[in-house]
Amino acid sequence: MWTAVESCARTLFAGYGYQEIRLPLLEHTELYTRAVGEVTDIVEKEMYTFVDRNGDSLSLRPEGTAGCVRAGIEAGAFHNQTQRFWYQGPMFRHERPQKGRYRQFHQLGVEAYGMAGPDIEAEMILLGERLWRALGVKTRLLVNSLGTPACRAAYRQALVDYLARHAADLDDDSRRRLERNPLRILDSKNPALADLLDAAPKLADYWSGEAVAHFQGLTDQLTEAGVAFTVTPRLVRGLDYYTHTVFEWVSDALGAQATVCAGGRYDGLVEELGGAATPAVGFALGLERLVTLVTRWPQTAPLDVFVITGTPTRRKAVALAEALREHGFAVEVYLGPAGVKSQIKRAQSSGARMTLYAQGDEIELDGAGAAGARVAWSEAVLAVVARLRGQREGE
Ligand code: HAM
Repeated sequence: MWTAVESCARTLFAGYGYQEIRLPLLEHTELYTRAVGEVTDIVEKEMYTFVDRNGDSLSLRPEGTAGCVRAGIEAGAFHNQTQRFWYQGPMFRHERPQKGRYRQFHQLGVEAYGMAGPDIEAEMILLGERLWRALGVKTRLLVNSLGTPACRAAYRQALVDYLARHAADLDDDSRRRLERNPLRILDSKNPALADLLDAAPKLADYWSGEAVAHFQGLTDQLTEAGVAFTVTPRLVRGLDYYTHTVFEWVSDALGAQATVCAGGRYDGLVEELGGAATPAVGFALGLERLVTLVTRWPQTAPLDVFVITGTPTRRKAVALAEALREHGFAVEVYLGPAGVKSQIKRAQSSGARMTLYAQGDEIELDGAGAAGARVAWSEAVLAVVARLRGQREGE
């Protein structure tokens, strides 16, 4: 299942011009402190951090964006260029394990650099939608804008002023966040805070003309492309690097951990990490969550031939399979202890186009229009190749 989802995504990414980038599992801790933000749950509570033999503080990567930017800067990949990268692999966060939330989980992510307009965001969202369609996954798309850094700073102040006036009504968690990361209070799931947060200042009231135009550009393009979305004013995301657009795909079938894929624009990060100012946008999906939602399994490389055989004919069957592979076909020979009956079941569930019964002096062919035909061992390769090729041409 995992292979099927990964190869479906891989093909799709290539179809939009994304190139794979392989990133290390370990980075200097400081990278995440600077990129993800010192006062985020990830950096404060969730990183697996240790001091190595040189006395350097390293962390297992909690996400891929920071490492991608670090690598891109080091490789000089951002100078007056546009880039589209994708990556996959394990990420590590010391969260409380529960359904859909693991300490080692796996992401597939895309990151695009050097493109400042909302069109790349729209294209990226269309890529996501295409992936959900291919896999038969039902999601809802939520979008919001954090505006420019100046809008965000002004809003932050307004929110702190408002919440400080109502400090007595806040819960412990929110009171703790008030000084350090007030925007995250908007994410609170505590029903007792619902009214208070509903009446809080609205981020959209602090958008500059530029922020409004950018967000309008995206929503217009999504509407034009027929993509359904919900503008979600309280969607702020838990990582500090976002500016302008943020988005998440959620599913009602996932329980409490409802977000299957999330991302947004992070125009300030490349410069923050020492590169030249470079617009950037990306998203990452959680593979564990995605595979539970898939209803249509994409075909992985299908098996052409399954060979049923017994102890006396095994050596010949292995040699026959090698000869078929020379012709480019995928062949599985059964070499375990099971009898013919259960081998037939395996052949059926393998999805092979053809089954060979190779137990006696002759081989019986089944599938690819060959039901019941018998051939001598010496003629088997030609007979099988002819039938498989004939079937392919017939298609
Ligand atoms: P994130 O929202 O932290 O964003 O994670 C993205 C996705 O990874 C989540 O929506 C979820 O599906 C999955 N995920 C996160 N934590 C866990 C966990 N503990 N167990 C299972 N799945 C999990 C980022 O990581 C950003 N780097 C996304 C991004 C890329 N923004 C721009 N570019």
